[in-house]
Amino acid sequence: MLKPNMLEARKRLSKKIETEIFKLDPSYKNIGNGLTYVVKTYGCQMNEHDSENIEAILDAMSFEKIDDYEKADLVILNTCAIRENAHNKVFGLLGRLKHLKEERPSLIVGFCGCMAQEESVITEISQKYKWIDIVFGTHNIHELPSILAKNIKEKIQDIEVYSIEGNIVEKLPVKRASKYKAWVNIMYGCDKFCTYCIVPYTRGKQRSRKKDDILEEVNELIKNGYQEVTLLGQNVNAYGKDLNVNYDMASLLEDVAKTGINRVRFVTSHPWDFNDKMIDVIAKYDNIMPYIHLPLQSGSNRILKLMGRRYTKESYLKLFDSLKAKIPNVAITTDIIVGFPNETDEDFKETLDVVNYCKYDLAYTFIFSPRVGTPAAKMKDNVSLEEKEKRLQELNTLINKYAKENNLKYLNKVVPVLLENTSEKDATTLSGYTDTMKLVNVKADKKYIGRIVDVKITDAKTWSLDGEIVSK
Ligand code: SAH
Ligand code: SF4
Ligand code: F3S
Repeated sequence: MLKPNMLEARKRLSKKIETEIFKLDPSYKNIGNGLTYVVKTYGCQMNEHDSENIEAILDAMSFEKIDDYEKADLVILNTCAIRENAHNKVFGLLGRLKHLKEERPSLIVGFCGCMAQEESVITEISQKYKWIDIVFGTHNIHELPSILAKNIKEKIQDIEVYSIEGNIVEKLPVKRASKYKAWVNIMYGCDKFCTYCIVPYTRGKQRSRKKDDILEEVNELIKNGYQEVTLLGQNVNAYGKDLNVNYDMASLLEDVAKTGINRVRFVTSHPWDFNDKMIDVIAKYDNIMPYIHLPLQSGSNRILKLMGRRYTKESYLKLFDSLKAKIPNVAITTDIIVGFPNETDEDFKETLDVVNYCKYDLAYTFIFSPRVGTPAAKMKDNVSLEEKEKRLQELNTLINKYAKENNLKYLNKVVPVLLENTSEKDATTLSGYTDTMKLVNVKADKKYIGRIVDVKITDAKTWSLDGEIVSK
């Protein structure tokens, strides 16, 4: 048994990060014969992509993917720790899985992802959830085959979570959810330590992948017909800083654009590391999409300082203006936290002021959620939950107003859309995203799936647009 420790997880050791190559031991290849699996994923794109690796590893072990977790022989929960409600969702599903396990003791339950890196969660699992079979962390997904094999043989709870990251593992197999757009990790971990955030503890220190490995993956995707890549990291603008080579995010973006893939996106951009060189590269290449997610968190300098965000409202707005000025037609979205400890009415009003200035295309808004082990969780807080909810509502009303206003500007315009799938509601409707990341629903034949087509926008709502194809 190997349990995580939050103090250890905080450490940033100077040990050099090496790259190792994943290889499946041939003795594990048939372990899943005749067995089915479901991977349930919570959280961000990082977790979505990790699940694509987990599924491919299970496929390589001869497990078969199915849709209904109630019927599966193996259920793996890939969890998120970012806010309390993420926790609650997972514990909710664990309740249901416990019943399934009682009815069908052969069911194997696995638990991984960011919650698995939390000391308090692991203590709870080892005491109250003894029926969970395997637990592994974000640093050892590549060890899933041996962990599963051992559990199938020994049938006792096995917790294997490292506090500290290991090497970067290349060549993990991947079962991509889409045939047209792909996530490509460019870095792991985060060294920013915003005071409210659990990620630097659950994902370890910042480790950038080597440029050649990233470009090889993108070129491979192009060969396989992919139209779009999204470069992934908690803080992509800091790419390369840990490699001690003269090669940064601007250089990488430029090289990825030069591969010729139709669409390049990246998430998430911390405002602190967003330099002019990057803005110029984005503006220069047509295949780098004019869409930037630029988390604000708060419009109050006092709160930003308490959050450890290392920028001010003024420097954020300067960056915002520069992006709008230099990148034609750019759409900018954001994340905002309300109710940080002791946020005053005045602080909150400053956040609203920034929203009124930036008129974001969209924003993801959250009530501050104290995460065990983070500095902000220890701060005294005199703001009631009721007040926080009121602020969130007021903020959301404003955000939605601007989202709709921005969408209305698209009416009767012709925009490029990568059509992906039929909408859930209606099989005759395809949906996809514009270059600026607007969701568009289009009545169109399935033959357009996977293609970037010109679409004329015929209706604009708060969260989506409707349109019709004009180019064939
Ligand atoms: N790396 C990204 C954010 C990843 S987490 C960045 O720095 O921009 C996604 C969002 O969740 C954050 O931007 C923040 O708005 C929100 N978040 C993170 N921790 C939170 C907490 N403890 N309570 C409420 N919201 C939180
Ligand atoms: Fe969390 Fe801040 Fe890192 Fe984003 S930059 S993952 S908010 S610590
Ligand atoms: Fe959640 Fe971990 Fe992502 S905490 S938001 S899954 S990095």
